Amino acid sequence: HKTIKKICCIGAGYVGGPTCAVIAEKNPDIIVTIVDINPTRIAAWNSDTLPIYEPGLDKIVKGCRGRNLFFSTDVDKGIIEADLIFVSVNTPTKKKGVGAGYAADLGYVESATRHIARVAQSDKIVVEKSTVPCRTAHSMRYILEANARPGIHFDILSNPEFLAEGTAVPDLMRPDRVLIGSLDTLAGRAAAASLADIYASWVPRGQIIAMNLWSSELSKLAANALLAQRISSINALSAICEATGADVDEVSYACGLDTRIGSKFLKASVGFGGSCFQKDILNLVYLSESLHLPEVAAYWRQVVEMNEYQKRRFTDRVISSLFNTLTGKKIAILGFAFKKDTGDTRESPAITLVNYFRAERANISIYDPKVEDSQIWMDLTEPGVVDDLAELQKQVSIATNAYSACDDADAVVICTEWDEFRDTYLDYGRIYENMKKPAFVFDGRLILDRNRLEGMGFRVETIGRAASSFKTPRDWE
Ligand code: NAD
Ligand code: UDX
Repeated sequence: HKTIKKICCIGAGYVGGPTCAVIAEKNPDIIVTIVDINPTRIAAWNSDTLPIYEPGLDKIVKGCRGRNLFFSTDVDKGIIEADLIFVSVNTPTKKKGVGAGYAADLGYVESATRHIARVAQSDKIVVEKSTVPCRTAHSMRYILEANARPGIHFDILSNPEFLAEGTAVPDLMRPDRVLIGSLDTLAGRAAAASLADIYASWVPRGQIIAMNLWSSELSKLAANALLAQRISSINALSAICEATGADVDEVSYACGLDTRIGSKFLKASVGFGGSCFQKDILNLVYLSESLHLPEVAAYWRQVVEMNEYQKRRFTDRVISSLFNTLTGKKIAILGFAFKKDTGDTRESPAITLVNYFRAERANISIYDPKVEDSQIWMDLTEPGVVDDLAELQKQVSIATNAYSACDDADAVVICTEWDEFRDTYLDYGRIYENMKKPAFVFDGRLILDRNRLEGMGFRVETIGRAASSFKTPRDWE
């Protein structure tokens, strides 16, 4: 099989950037060029301030950039020079047309594929890095073969990415597994071996798994669906805990000790967010429906419905605790990113919560350590709606630190589990002094020591725990 000397990655996003930066670091003999049609993003990758925040990424990019790692808007050149091309473009949920609200929009994948076919002057290995519905490789191959210059051969591989945001670098450095799906032909297996060699520079061979193309594509959707399902399961149990006085953290701990269940991804929360879980499950729902498997579709759809329910339920608890009205009250939102250690807000539960609170005519002050103000304004407005921003800014403000967000607030709502919001970091005594009374804290991420905060005078309401007025078995002691 062929030894890869030049790689092109189409799509300089959350996946393409970190993945190919790590490939470049671990393979100093391979030239890696990451291309994107978005010039602002490429300029940022070439600047001191990278377009995405990921702990550890800065050092890797700055170590390889200009040596064997390049960022460019010249997509043609990137494609022409490469032996192997990663397609790492976005695959959002379709907003319109057939499958709207469920199916993945494959427009970007198709346009990148057509671009490869149009400009390629030599044989290429084309690797699906984007998360795509099962059998997308088939469409890509068809497009490539129908549009390529005569005599040019393409091999298609599926190599889904399992990194999570906030931990992208350690996830890439020590992946649980690397999947490489290929056609079961001589050429397909040879292409898979070429890609495997790249990963083998740092991943043990036993963890690089070869399989058929469709299994590899489906494994990505399946893994995300199974992970999200665990969160919805523990969140469903959190509702039972709140109603009974059981403590969801204790239940999660007890269940997680069973080695058949395991402890990860069993943390109850205000709901999962992020660009992947909801999109990929809806994609699976759509796939199931198109395969005439309505029971399977309904099963997976429920994971997303439970997540919506969790956000609504948490909001309702805020409203009822605040004496059934939020009108004119100030709510401090701590955390706007969908999880800690990222500035990404895609599908962040904080967006849904702020919209619910706005509908109740609350005043909202938001603080997040990493999310840009412009991003928050974008997430809370409808594109193209006149005066939307002006209206929004009458009700919502962005604070530069947690203390000023909480100043004069009626309630603090923890939406993201940033370490700096823990009661071991933040001075909740100071926050309490400057809040309206009774001072409420709603912990949507289970990061606070409720007894400690109640000792300061707060009324604390936590996901998966009964209201503070509720008698639990502990009160009988
Ligand atoms: P992203 O939106 O951050 O990046 C995609 C980039 O592709 C954008 O910068 C866009 O400008 C560029 N692009 C689109 N069409 C192009 C074209 N024709 N030519 C050149 N550039 C083009 O998306 P992301 O979060 O990196 O996700 C990419 C894929 O990886 C998605 O399919 C996603 O489901 C999957 N994925 C994401 C994560 C994650 O944590 N974000 C994890 C695993 C898998
Ligand atoms: C996810 C997958 O984990 C990753 O493998 C895939 O490649 C992309 O999608 P990501 O969305 O970046 O990664 O982050 P993840 O850590 O999975 O968290 C997703 C959401 O679930 C976050 O909002 C997080 O706060 C929430 N979550 C996670 C919980 O509420 N409870 C948990 O126990 C774990």
